[in-house]
Amino acid sequence: MHTVTLINGDGIGPEISNSVVKIIKASGLDIEWDIQTAGADVIEKEGVPLPDRVLESIKKNKVALKAPVTTPIGKGFRSVNVQLRKTLDLFANLRPCKNLPGVKTKFENVDLVVVRENTEDLYAGIEEQIDSDTAHSIKVITRKASERICKFAFDYAVKNGRKEVCVVTKANIMKLSDGLFLEAYRHIAQNYPQINQREILVDNLCMQLVQNPSQFDVLVLPNLYGDIVSDLCAGLIGGLGVAQGANISSDYAVFEPVHGSAPDIKGQNKANPTALLLSAIEMLKYIGEREHAEKIEKALYKTLSQGNKTSDLGGNLSTTEFTDKIIQNM
Ligand code: NAI
Repeated sequence: MHTVTLINGDGIGPEISNSVVKIIKASGLDIEWDIQTAGADVIEKEGVPLPDRVLESIKKNKVALKAPVTTPIGKGFRSVNVQLRKTLDLFANLRPCKNLPGVKTKFENVDLVVVRENTEDLYAGIEEQIDSDTAHSIKVITRKASERICKFAFDYAVKNGRKEVCVVTKANIMKLSDGLFLEAYRHIAQNYPQINQREILVDNLCMQLVQNPSQFDVLVLPNLYGDIVSDLCAGLIGGLGVAQGANISSDYAVFEPVHGSAPDIKGQNKANPTALLLSAIEMLKYIGEREHAEKIEKALYKTLSQGNKTSDLGGNLSTTEFTDKIIQNM
């Protein structure tokens, strides 16, 4: 039996976590959930938003499913999400974006995966105030991190039957930093002759994505472009309620939806559990439970194509009603 850390979060987190745990159980798969609380609610009792016990649990189980955790804006504690990524060196951010049946969007046949480098680039946090009218942010790109993320993207492509890995840079302008990322991609790509290679500039990519997104397969990008492009891609498939993600290191993997804790609909039985469910389906594939993952995926697709939807997608089902429909369809 697998043991998986479950961080059920706050806001809508506990509602959508309950839904997903129920659906996985109904698929016949027995998972032992090591439930860990984190965020604002645990500060009162334990003094910190991300207690060591959460990290220890992930280190022990290697895999976690995580619902959203609220981060106070401007003041208050550091983001639990950022702390998790830093402490566990979750260097790869994975965002599969695929059209779902019954979810109307501008494009059909979108089925791409964004692989974003998660640790450096302009997000390394190196900034300096030169004088009151000038500030600098340093863009850090290293060969080690670039080769690591490119290798991750190619390995993902091989493991998941993908045909192409396209590298996204602005190496025509940032010849040294993005140039190094591109060089790392070319070096790693030599080991994967079975996967198509493609190079594109980030501005051209954005235009192509909003005109003809189905031409893309796996995209690998440095941190900043990856952050922006992955949200653009989430928009292509129907937005936050259906956008899944994962943060992965060589040792650990944390699967989580893209959306936040949605405090505006907390406790109202309105939240769409689809993004967390899709993250869980990817998690099941990652731990080798592909059959159960596909069974749940099929039931979700059937449920959506019958027109069953929560209110964010224009439907009128509650979280629990939508969950029950998926279980019935299994
Ligand atoms: P949000 O994603 O929580 O909400 C934005 C809008 O989308 C809201 O109107 C919300 O009701 C709706 N929405 C989001 N998820 C939904 C779902 N599953 N079903 C139906 N509607 C949904 O973004 P916001 O409001 O900017 O952030 C709220 C809190 O979440 C903040 O404290 C933020 O820091 C945190 N956050 C946490 C993340 C994480 O734990 N990975 C990621 C993003 C934000």
